[in-house]
Amino acid sequence: MDRVLSGMQPSGYLHLGNLVGALQSWVKLQDDYECFYFVADWHALTTNFANPEMIKGYTEDLVLNFLAAGLDPEKCTMFVQSRILQHAEFHVLLSMITPLGWLERVPTYKEKKEEIGDRDIDSYGFLGYPVLQSADIMIYRARYVPVGIDQVPHLEITREICRRFNFIYKTGALVEPEPLLTQFPKVVGVDGRKMSKSYDNCIYLNDPAEVVEQKLKTMVTDPARKRRHDPGTPDLSPVFALHRIFSTTEQQEEVAEGCRTASIGCIDCKKILIDNIFRVLEPIWEKRKYYGANPSIIQDILETGTKKATAIAEETMQLVRSAMKFS
Ligand code: TRP
Repeated sequence: MDRVLSGMQPSGYLHLGNLVGALQSWVKLQDDYECFYFVADWHALTTNFANPEMIKGYTEDLVLNFLAAGLDPEKCTMFVQSRILQHAEFHVLLSMITPLGWLERVPTYKEKKEEIGDRDIDSYGFLGYPVLQSADIMIYRARYVPVGIDQVPHLEITREICRRFNFIYKTGALVEPEPLLTQFPKVVGVDGRKMSKSYDNCIYLNDPAEVVEQKLKTMVTDPARKRRHDPGTPDLSPVFALHRIFSTTEQQEEVAEGCRTASIGCIDCKKILIDNIFRVLEPIWEKRKYYGANPSIIQDILETGTKKATAIAEETMQLVRSAMKFS
């Protein structure tokens, strides 16, 4: 079975966009691949080194969401990056063979730097972010890495570092990974922009039911449809954009038609959406509650995951050390 690996930074609470965009595809993959999923807590230091408490909190919540979304400890291996010290050893070694120019050219480096301009993030670790990510991936000799399109440049660097390593040390020890592009529709937030924690427009997986309902009830619709009897344009309504993700084709046709002819109001349209989103979130809330009340079960799952991950990471490091004459 081919190995799949992916990780998420604990840099905020997860929202519907993260669920549909990443977690749901992770869940699907666990049936067909040997999957490793982890919390990239060292990576979160690049932008938040001054807030370790926050990273700790988000890490715990992220593991809870992994399980709540349907990652099954019987089918996949879950762990926290900082528990597997081999990642750090591998990162040091890879950093020695990675040309600076490769890192300076990564688009996310330049963008993020401009985006977070006011915070002090211009660190050595921040530039080396893709090297650490390469270590995360190659230490498990993963063949596929499910990621969003924004991560493709990082995967490209990983592939280049892989080839360089194998060439310099005349080995075939490292496996060149490929991105598994997760195709999913862009999830809009309650203000109609892309759902993103920096826009404060998210529906979070840890929002209570009342909050989710309230957020959806007050969500922006087609701005031209001011009164109940005004006909609307579904494609201008962010609510309809969510219907496209969460509602059946029949329901989509029904609300679109109702909107165009003003035969249904925005409140009715939202009601259908709210029901459908609740149907997705309810099992997640239930599992969050169960695991939240049973932290020792989570500890056991992570313990098992750490052991399994460590065994493979150590195996790869033995190959790496020997290729580099450190054994
Ligand atoms: N950079 C990824 C992100 O921000 C997180 C990440 C860290 C990752 N290491 C990884 C993803 C290894 C896939 C594989 O989303």
